[in-house]
Amino acid sequence: MKALSSSVAGIERSPIRYILDRAAAYPDAIHLEIGQPDFSVPDHVTEAAARVMRNDYTGYTANAGVRDLREAITIKLDRENDMHVTPENVIVTVGAMQAVYSTMLVLLDPGDEILLPDPGYGNFNMGARLCHANPVFYPTLADRRFEPDLDALEELVSRRTKALFINSPSNPTGAVFSREIMQACLEFCQRHDLYLVSDETYDRLVFEGEHVSPAQWDDEGRVISIFTTSKTYAMTGWRVGYAVAEPAIISTMAKIQEPTVSCVNTVAQHGAIAALLGPQDCVDMMRAEYKRRRDIAVQVALEEELSVSYPHGAFYMLVDISSQPLDSIAFCCGLLDQEQVAAAPGRSFGERSDRYVRVSLCANEAALREGLPRLAGHLRQVAALGHTSPECVALSAQATR
Ligand SMILES: Cc1ncc(COP(=O)(O)O)c(C=O)c1O
Repeated sequence: MKALSSSVAGIERSPIRYILDRAAAYPDAIHLEIGQPDFSVPDHVTEAAARVMRNDYTGYTANAGVRDLREAITIKLDRENDMHVTPENVIVTVGAMQAVYSTMLVLLDPGDEILLPDPGYGNFNMGARLCHANPVFYPTLADRRFEPDLDALEELVSRRTKALFINSPSNPTGAVFSREIMQACLEFCQRHDLYLVSDETYDRLVFEGEHVSPAQWDDEGRVISIFTTSKTYAMTGWRVGYAVAEPAIISTMAKIQEPTVSCVNTVAQHGAIAALLGPQDCVDMMRAEYKRRRDIAVQVALEEELSVSYPHGAFYMLVDISSQPLDSIAFCCGLLDQEQVAAAPGRSFGERSDRYVRVSLCANEAALREGLPRLAGHLRQVAALGHTSPECVALSAQATR
């Protein structure tokens, strides 16, 4: 048989998925690895979707999405993001993930470079590689509050660079970029004639400070903003996200929608209208609960003498495991096999991130109170021993295949 496409075969699998699959062998495992909200979808959203189904209004929609949803998105952007746009600036996508990939497809030629954060969400890297582009990683380091290092960006930008990709609030660091940093990122893009792609998946999940959308200052069509209903309304499986950009970019994205997904699920699109225009107290309730869990997680980490990031938004916390000698995948395999705690290996978020594991605040209070001390105990044990079982070490190579 002829070989599969080299661009696909060469892509590493997410180590988080590996841990998730491995955890299936442990029915009582404590799950701290996955960003899956444990709330129900708000009733008024489910009801709106059910109404559409009962009325049998479930055919294909326009590639760019139902007009009423695109209108609803403009109302939300005006209300929450200081962005004042028309439906022609909006495309509805299969979650934020398709918005990210579609953005990369319309921006990047083979061999182009895109500046991606490290630590950063691993799927950004995979998306760029699928476009035959070259990801170049810029640091977002702990001693700079995990915000982009503008000096490092200046060093990394090249003739082939097409776009800077930012993500605030950040997965996995929980950083919420300041207004000044957002402005500096946009100015950097203006200076070097780059697109600015701003993933704002967690725009409504901010505990301290404010979320700032850089598109509010853009009068050149340089910024592409990405949002989703997944995390804000616990609608991960509904798969409704959206991208906001210049009409010329949006219509190109709509064109490639046809041979890829045609349109987003019609029922889910109607649910999303209810989510965006309906009561927002469900968002306040979920945010308050994530903040409560953040406070508990930080407190337990402190008691256990763990060194952690202090997330101001999103729902993830990084734990520094650099006091022990293993890479993060081998460490997480050992943690799972010996303590039945599943955590996300830092390696999933970039090369610089191997010194961390990520803990998700989607885990409930009991899981955090039990899981974090077990993680701390395992860290102390491996640091003292200098190794975990040889099988775990061998596994780290296998995990990304
Ligand atoms: C930063 C970031 N962008 C995009 C996504 C994908 O979101 P969606 O489920 O809406 O596709 C995630 C999901 O975890 C994320 O953390």
